[in-house]
Amino acid sequence: MTTELKNSRPTSLLKLDQVSKVYGEGDTEVTALYPITLDVKEGEFIGIVGPSGSGKSTLLSIAGALLSPSKGNIYVSDQNITSLSEKEMTDIRLKRIGFIFQFANLVPFLTVKEQLIYIAKLKGESKKNADKYAAHLLKTFGLSHRINHYPRQLSGGEKQRVAIARAFMNNPDLILADEPTASLDSKRAREVVDMMKHQVKKNKKAAIMITHDEKMLDVCDRILTLRDGKLLTPNEI
Ligand SMILES: Nc1ncnc2c1ncn2[C@@H]1O[C@H](COP(=O)(O)OP(=O)(O)O)[C@@H](O)[C@H]1O
Ligand SMILES: [Mg+2]
Repeated sequence: MTTELKNSRPTSLLKLDQVSKVYGEGDTEVTALYPITLDVKEGEFIGIVGPSGSGKSTLLSIAGALLSPSKGNIYVSDQNITSLSEKEMTDIRLKRIGFIFQFANLVPFLTVKEQLIYIAKLKGESKKNADKYAAHLLKTFGLSHRINHYPRQLSGGEKQRVAIARAFMNNPDLILADEPTASLDSKRAREVVDMMKHQVKKNKKAAIMITHDEKMLDVCDRILTLRDGKLLTPNEI
């Protein structure tokens, strides 16, 4: 019996239930998302594609508790986070979510290792654990020889790999990436995406990646297409 229950996984890491978003009001009102329902299971790598302005970043921001929806509910690991306070949302982000954006946004006056340690400090990890995990991640992302470098001493690809390592530093269940490879050449882009996939599969996390680069979509288990704020069904694509 117990075995059967265990096998009934994979667990849901993120659920959007009829989530919609309207920006502004009156004359300036823009419907960025019409009601969207989505369930992301552990171990899943999801791609989001769609033209500029179709609502991709809005969807990712809502999924990552950076933005509140106008309607609908959001569940992170089965916890309803829709009506949490700002402080509680920050806590969810810190504990459960790793963000990667197009630009690395590293802190200029921190070394590579310090960029990661900083996250662990926010989370209240011991220095010893933080040091150990940072070293492990930097090795995984091929950055062991750069740990004491500052961002200005790194190439674009290295900076982005630091940003990705940093996104994993809080050991998040859910990785949300908005055009993570847009500033990289195709060789680096491939490396970065493969590393993300490896982390997702090996450590039973989930990832949602927005990309314009069709070559990167082969890592995805599912690809969602947005157009004018709506998820297209396969026969609409
Ligand atoms: N903060 C905002 N205020 C008003 N409108 C916004 C805001 N952010 C995005 N929008 C609008 O919402 C729509 C979807 O935007 P976005 O989610 O950024 O699309 P994408 O990431 O697919 O380019 C667009 O029409 C955009 O102009
Ligand atoms: Mg966008």
